[in-house]
Formats: sequence, C-alpha cells, structure tokens
Amino acid sequence: MNVNPHFVALERKIKSRTARIGIVGLGYVGLPLAVEFAQAGFRVVGIDLDRRKTRAVNAGTSYIEDVSTSRLKPLVRNGLIRAQSHYNGCGKLDAILIAVPTPLRKTKDPDISYIVASMDAIAPHVRAGQLIILESTTYPGTTEEVLRPVLESGGLAVGRDLFLAFSPERVDPGNQLYQTKNTPKVVGGSTAWCTKAAALLYGQAIDHVHPVTSTQSAEMIKLLENTFRAVNIGLVNEIALMCEKLGLDVWEVIDGAATKPFGFMRFYPGPGIGGHCIPLDPHYLAWKLRTLNYSARFIELASEINGHMPEVVVRRATEILNEAKKSVKGAKVFVLGVAYKKDTGDTRESPALDVIQLLQAKGASVSFHDPYADAIRGENGRVEKGSALTSRNLRAADLVVIVTDHGVFDYDAIVKDARRVLDTRNATRGVKHGRGKIVKL
Ligand SMILES: NC(=O)c1ccc[n+]([C@@H]2O[C@H](COP(=O)([O-])OP(=O)(O)OC[C@H]3O[C@@H](n4cnc5c(N)ncnc54)[C@H](O)[C@@H]3O)[C@@H](O)[C@H]2O)c1
Repeated sequence: MNVNPHFVALERKIKSRTARIGIVGLGYVGLPLAVEFAQAGFRVVGIDLDRRKTRAVNAGTSYIEDVSTSRLKPLVRNGLIRAQSHYNGCGKLDAILIAVPTPLRKTKDPDISYIVASMDAIAPHVRAGQLIILESTTYPGTTEEVLRPVLESGGLAVGRDLFLAFSPERVDPGNQLYQTKNTPKVVGGSTAWCTKAAALLYGQAIDHVHPVTSTQSAEMIKLLENTFRAVNIGLVNEIALMCEKLGLDVWEVIDGAATKPFGFMRFYPGPGIGGHCIPLDPHYLAWKLRTLNYSARFIELASEINGHMPEVVVRRATEILNEAKKSVKGAKVFVLGVAYKKDTGDTRESPALDVIQLLQAKGASVSFHDPYADAIRGENGRVEKGSALTSRNLRAADLVVIVTDHGVFDYDAIVKDARRVLDTRNATRGVKHGRGKIVKL
C-alpha cells in the first residue's frame, strides 16, 4: 500500500486525541458510544434531531440505562461531550459515526429513510480526510450502494480522499458484563485504507477490534448474529409448544440439555420477541435475498413462530380462566412487565403490547405494572398508564400474567397475593409456596 496522505493526517489526529468525533443519533447505541470516545479523551459532538435528548445530554443527564448520569455529567462538564440538533459544523469533524434507527415498513421491507436523511444532511459538509462510519444495522450492500455515492457526489473518492466503513453495534441493553468498551468491534471498510482508519479509531476506545475485508461482510456479520438469535428463539418456542402437547415441562428439558458441556447453547421460550433488533434485523436480510430471488426460509419460519407467541400466551390465559369458570370477557388481568427484556424499560416491539391488545380485544380488563416503563402506547397510539404493584391490585386480578421477568420483582410476594399466575418466563422458579397457583408457559 502506498502512503495515503489523508490517512497519515487522520492517524496523527486520532493518536493524539485531537480528532473530533461526531455521533449522529444519540439513542441506545449512540450515547454509550459517545461516552466511550469521550472517556478515551476525544471531543465528541452528538447530533440528534430530538431536542429532548440533546438538552438532556447538555445537562449531563442520561436517559439510557446503560449510561449513568454520574458517568456522563463530568464528561459534559469537561467539554468532552456536547449535543446539538442540527448538522452545522460537521465539516470540522474528523470522524462521523451514524447510529440512527433502521425500522421496518408495515410490509416488513427495510426502512432506511433515517440513514438517507442523515447522509443528505451530512453531504454538504463532507471534505477530504474525513472518516464516515455507519453503525445502524442494515442489509448487506447499504454502505456501498447508499452512502458511498453520496460521499463521492462532490468528486471526492472513497479510499483515496476520505474513508468509509461499516461497523455494527452490539450493545446488549442491561448486560452488566459486556458493554460497549469490552465487546469486540467488527469493522469493514470500503477499501483497505478505510478499514485501517476505522479500526484505528475504534481501537482507541474499544478493547478489541476485528477488521474484515468489506463493508458487506461487516453488515452480514451483524445479520448472522441476530438471525442466529431469532432462529434459535423460534426453535425453542416451538420446542415449548411441542412440550405442551407432550405434557412435558420445557424448562426442565432445557435445563437438562444445558448440562451438556459442548454443542448446545441455552435459549429460552417466552411470550415473543421484541426490541429494535431481533424482530427486525433478520427481515433486512430476508428482503435483500428476495431481491436476489432467494427465500430466507429459516428467517420466515422463526418470525412466524415467534410472532405467534403472544397468541399462545392469550390462549393459555383463556384456558386458566376457563378452569376457574371465568370468561376472558370481563376478567381482570394484571400484566407484570411490558418491556421486551428483563431489567430494561424498552417497550419497542414488546410482545407485552400484543398480549395486552389481544386480551383487550377479547373483552378483558387489563392493567399492567412495569418498574421501568410507566406507560405504553396502546391501540391507535393511545397512552395507557401503568398501575402500582400492590397486594390490593394483585388480589383484585383474576389472573396475573408475568410477561417480563424483571429482577426487582418479589415473586414470592406476587404469588402469595395473586389468585392465579401465568408465568411466561419461568420467573417464579424459586418460589416455594403457592406453586399450585402457577401455570408455566
Ligand atoms: N438498541 C440496541 O440494542 C441496538 C443494538 C445493536 C444495533 N442497534 C442498531 O443501531 C441503530 C440505532 O438503534 P438505537 O437503538 O440506538 O435507536 P434509538 O431510536 O435509540 O436512537 C436513534 C436516535 O437517532 C435519532 N435520529 C433519527 N433520525 C435522525 C437524523 N436524521 N439525524 C439525527 N438523529 C436522528 C433519533 O432521534 C434517536 O434518538 C439501529 O440500526 C439499530 O438496529 C441497536
């Protein structure tokens, strides 16, 4: 490789921590990343169109569980992080990392409009020597097909004048062990110089960087990871349905299989999948393959099984009430946990929302409690507020449904007060008394 003068200049700035970093999108991915780079000594500008977020960041207040305010505040006070809701000054940034949402359309096709909008906003500020990195999960080809033409439209060449890479985020909200810094970072550039530049930048803040040969490979790696989870959760959900038919306890079956020290990995059944990743990302891959006339069969099947689980929960709830000579219509159902995941408040795509709506559609009077989410958006965007977790509310319910297994719940007390419990996560496994009231998924 001949010497690339733009790389040399960028390298000097990165190594001396004088490189200025911009992070577009200050959500679950962007804010922890901003903190990590600031912690490593870089000055970071966060760009987010949501003024509530930029105001909170500038006040040093975190709204993301994995970033404590006590960690953010000193970085803001020392001028290492600041946030803005516009793209002015992007030309002064040496590296711009994009972490905007990548949802699905109703048709389950990718919606990359947020990526396109952020690139359109960055485009007028692009200059030689900059490094642009996409972090949003997307289909293989996005970085080359969507970002590269925008960057090169002014006559600059990627790999020669400026650098472009894809690096998937692997943040696992609520994970105490693995956070942004100690989770290895995959990096794939448009050219070898691009990979080198991006790997060098991440290497300053992240413990381990794993370079790959192309942006497409890096995009595919993320989709393999999340498809792996979606398919295995789909498999174990189907195993749960099989165990129900066979009259077996699926949890005992999983615990037993997990004693095998090799060749088996534990996944759990549950009320369905949620969050911004597992229900959506595999469809990005399936869509891309459809354009190549290939059907991603595992993805479709897993999506069908996982998407069906809220209905399974409602069927089980109906059966429990039926046993007690009660109809769903008019029954009082108290749902515990509406976040899609234990110990987080993230309700995006949460199966709890489907469970609640399906129960309401059958005429049940549904209340809910979640220590991390005090309100949800019900049907037609209506905001529904949570109820307190009191003995009185538990006793008043015909059925308590545990949808999210938050660690802070006192399951002994819940089972003691509840008349009947449907436990979709085996959260009550440690409860000794009142087991006769519990039905597991
Ligand atoms: N949340 C996770 O656990 C996770 C994990 C790995 C990867 N990802 C991926 O990372 C990406 C971001 O996810 P997230 O969970 O951080 O989303 P998020 O919704 O929490 O944050 C995205 C932010 O981008 C902002 N935004 C939207 N359009 C913008 C624009 N044009 N300019 C500036 N800001 C804009 C939004 O206001 C929001 O604050 C997605 O592609 C997601 O699939 C998420």
